[in-house]
Order: sequence, then C-alpha cells, then structure tokens
Amino acid sequence: MSAAHAAPAWITGRAGALSGIHDVPGDKSLSHRAVMLAALADGVSRIDGFLEGADTRATAAIFARMGVRIEAPADGCRIVHGVGLHGLRAPDGVLDCGNAGTAMRLLAGVLAGQRFATTLVGDASLSRRPMQRVAGPLSTMGVDIRTSDDGTPPLRLQPVATLRGVDHTCAVASAQVKSALLLAGLYAEGDTVVREPRPTRDYTERLLQAFGWQVDAAPGIARLRGGQRLSATDVRVPGDFSSAAFLLVAATVVPGSELVLRGVGLHPRRTGLLHVLRAMGADIREDNTRMEGGESIADLHVRHAPLRGIAVPQAAIPDMIDEFPVLAIAAACAEGATVVTGAEELRVKESDRLHAMACGLAALGVDVRETPGGVVIQGGRIGAGSIDSFGDHRIAMAFAVGGQVATGRVRIVDVGNVATSYPGFDAALRRAGGTLRDAG
Ligand code: S3P
Repeated sequence: MSAAHAAPAWITGRAGALSGIHDVPGDKSLSHRAVMLAALADGVSRIDGFLEGADTRATAAIFARMGVRIEAPADGCRIVHGVGLHGLRAPDGVLDCGNAGTAMRLLAGVLAGQRFATTLVGDASLSRRPMQRVAGPLSTMGVDIRTSDDGTPPLRLQPVATLRGVDHTCAVASAQVKSALLLAGLYAEGDTVVREPRPTRDYTERLLQAFGWQVDAAPGIARLRGGQRLSATDVRVPGDFSSAAFLLVAATVVPGSELVLRGVGLHPRRTGLLHVLRAMGADIREDNTRMEGGESIADLHVRHAPLRGIAVPQAAIPDMIDEFPVLAIAAACAEGATVVTGAEELRVKESDRLHAMACGLAALGVDVRETPGGVVIQGGRIGAGSIDSFGDHRIAMAFAVGGQVATGRVRIVDVGNVATSYPGFDAALRRAGGTLRDAG
C-alpha cells in the first residue's frame, strides 16, 4: 500500500493531569433522526448541535439525493426544507450509508413507504453487519426488501401498494430495529406496535411527537397509527454522551485530572456507563442539570479516582451498548477483575468489539479473557505496543484513552473512522492535556 493510501494511525504517550472545560460533538442518534424527520415534514426545520460526522452527513446527503434541500449555514447547523411524507424523489443510483448502521436501518423503514425502488449500500464494515433483523420484521408489514444471501447489505427495496401495521416483539433490544418499524409504520395502514425485550433509547418516539405525530410510548413499547403528518419544528441536539465517555474515562484514570464536559445529553437509556463507573469508584458530578428539547442535559465534572473491578450487571448492557470499549480501558486500570457477560450484541457493531478490545488489551500486556458473551479483564498496568482498531471509531478512541496511562508508547492503527462520530477527537484530547500525535 502506498503511503498516500495507508490508513491513518496515532501514537500516544503517557499524559500529565487532564484539565479544562470542554464541549463534545452533537448526539449522533438524534442528529440522524432529526434530519430524517425534518426531511419528511411539511415546512422548514432548523437543527442546531447537528453532529458534523461522516455518519450523519451521509444521512443528510442521502435525503439531498432524494430532492430535499438542506442548507448548512454554519458548522452544527442545518436548515431542512421538508418535502412532506410523500415528497421524496427517486435517487439516480444507490444510496451510500458509509459506516452508519443507524442510517441504513432507519432508512430501510423510511424507504419502505416510497413509491420508487432504492438500494442501500455501505462500507466494508457496514457490509458485514446483520440486516435481517430489520428486513425480517419489515417483510411482515408487506415491505418488499431483500438483503444479500447472508443477511447483510446491500438492502434492495421495491415499492408495494400498501403496508400493514404489525404488532412486533423484537428478539434483540435494538433501538434501530424499533425505529425502522416505527418509521415504516408512518406509511402503513392501521397501528404499528413494537415491543422490546428491554427498553432502548426512545429518540424516534420522542422526535416523532415533537414533529406532531401522535405516538403512545412507554418503556419497552411504542405504538403509532399511520397516515398522520409531520410538521416542521426546530431541534436542539445535545452533546453526545457516547463521545463524552472518552474524556470521562480519561480524566478518571489519569492521576491528578479534573475536567468538565459541557452540555452532555443524559438520556437514561444511554448512561449505563455513568452508573457502572460510579460503582467502580469514579468521581463524576452532574452540574447545571437542565431540560433542553425534552432531554435532560448536564455538565459532567470529573476528577481522577482509583477504580475497582466489578461484575457489570447484564441489565446495564443495553444502556451502555456503545460504551463498552472505553469501559474496558477503565477496567484495565482498575484494581481486581471486571466481568462483562450477556453482551453478545457487541460482536455485531462496527467491529466485533469483544474481540477487538480483547486483542488490543492483550497486545498491551493486560490479562484479558474473551468469553462467548463478554470478557474478563484483570486490572493492572497497560503496557506499550501496537493495536489494530479494526476500522472501528470507538475502539480507536478507547485505546487513545488507554495510551494516556500506558507505561510506554501505544500505536493505534486504522483510526480514520473516528471522523464518523467524533471528528477532532485527537485535538480535543490534546486540548485537555493528553498526549497523541499522528503516526505520520
Ligand atoms: C443506535 C442504537 C444502537 C447503538 C447505535 C445507535 C440508534 O444500536 O449501538 O450506535 O441511534 O438507534 P442497536 O439498535 O443496534 O443496538
């Protein structure tokens, strides 16, 4: 491979105390959904705090390809000229979701109701991820949707005369599957009901309500009736807890640190890591708690604290589904063993995250054992070495945090996808006092 095409890499070193007051990028889940609903609404919506990441830009670009005018007057701002529920136009080729599983699964629901055919494709990582979990339930609504033979992308949708509402019980706790069905339900006859084995983030339900669609929702169940309309509204997107999690753990594990992360969304189905870190001994305070756009947000004030390993309650896993990589770093710095079980879903994220973290920690000399549905991490010292991110943004950022307390230099290979969720993470870590540079 020529240098020009080599995947970017980072080298980290041991950091002094981390400090400062920091903002984190806009919430990824909400940014995707805000663009989608604004595009399907009647009227003009303004989105502030939009995540300028490759994933959410891919979603916006897809709606632009279907005739939606989307202005970007400033970073983090989008003005979306909604075309109404039936106003999208056929795109002139396949729709590329890049690395974004949320984009592909939620779009499957939206595109199910269109009067034109579409094909959704993704990058190498997304092309390996399971799509039958949305294609199967959507088929029961009458959607004509096909995956490739092994249930992975591309997703091919053909128009059908009518969609029927269904009462579906999800096999896995997945906000993406729930959302795909609810979005198809906008176009269906009758009621669509989605029941979950454990409650997941309810952003789709809440944003639909904000755009004027009546939804009956309670933890673990959502019901809506097709044939209503979405009315434009302005959306203020809070800081992404999943992005905040990296500096949160970094300040917890680097001795002498004390910093503030401003304006972080604290949705209860997203903040399992807060409870787990506190149970391990972390010192994290929520200041200036307020409600914004129906979401509780706060400034997180975190100080270094010694951690002890714990058995992570299985019930906490869905509430920290994206935070496992950085939890594994906290566990590697804790005294004693941290045991994660019941986390099979982590094998089908942007990478197999149980495997990726186990490989990386082992490469840095940490005592780690991968189990079918989890890991056992014996805390201690993180050593020097080279790790592969497997092209996964959160694995790369987690090891950048681990590198701040390692005994020597840690090289992290293939970090380009960090731009999907946290462009500028490297600069943010340096601003806080961290040690990280491009490997060149
Ligand atoms: C998301 C749901 C979760 C999460 C992903 C974002 C969403 O995925 O891992 O990063 O925005 O709905 P699953 O629904 O597959 O658990």
